[in-house]
Amino acid sequence: MNAWLDRIMARRARKLTERLRPWISAGTRVADVGSGTGHNAMAWRLELGVAVDEFDVADLHWVGGGPIIFDGLRLPAAESDYHVVTVLFALHFSPHPSDLLQEIRRIAADRVIVIQSTYRGRWGQMWLNIRGFLWGPVAWTVARLAGAVQGNPISLVSQRLYSRDDLRQLFQNAGLTIRHWEPEEWWGFRISRDLIVLDANRLTPTSHSSSQPAMKSIG
Ligand SMILES: C[S@@+](CC[C@H](N)C(=O)[O-])C[C@H]1O[C@@H](n2cnc3c(N)ncnc32)[C@H](O)[C@@H]1O
Repeated sequence: MNAWLDRIMARRARKLTERLRPWISAGTRVADVGSGTGHNAMAWRLELGVAVDEFDVADLHWVGGGPIIFDGLRLPAAESDYHVVTVLFALHFSPHPSDLLQEIRRIAADRVIVIQSTYRGRWGQMWLNIRGFLWGPVAWTVARLAGAVQGNPISLVSQRLYSRDDLRQLFQNAGLTIRHWEPEEWWGFRISRDLIVLDANRLTPTSHSSSQPAMKSIG
């Protein structure tokens, strides 16, 4: 069971890595915030040739050395310490997402990459709730029964769901400029696993970030 779950997570990580490949160059320094099991960071080290530090509010790692634990607000890293900071399927667990994104922007020299599930309409909201339950508490329980993880999944309680407009607002509040927005639809469910590439804009005052985002067709 443990090996089977590990294979599922490794395969998922490989797929995510292919989505990220155009945006993460070999030899760069990456911080993965909300790193979870560590499968993503491991895949990026092996397949993208990058150095990855993992940060999380809880230690949920199955592979690799595990995360640097932080309080969800203040990352123990210097300003512009990383070329790229990634946040994959973690924003909705943060009770203070705007503060977290500003902190992420502080440690990012170049770009921030977010992958986040978004919903459209009430139908999408309902399915995203169900999906979040399956990938949160249910997945945790299965992993714990398999002996892959231990402890309390307190960090997997979703704080809210996001529409695309919610995310746009959040990024703007954090002073991040949208460079690229790539949907990955779950057809028929009105939910999407959106990949968003954001410029950290470290030298640009937040109030001047008025440039139009370059986006693929999204709703
Ligand atoms: C669904 S898992 C995703 C893990 C990993 N990014 C992935 O895609 O496989 C959500 C992660 O967000 C983390 N998390 C929860 N609350 C957080 C917070 N306030 N700030 C940052 N990460 C948080 C959890 O501990 C967990 O590792």
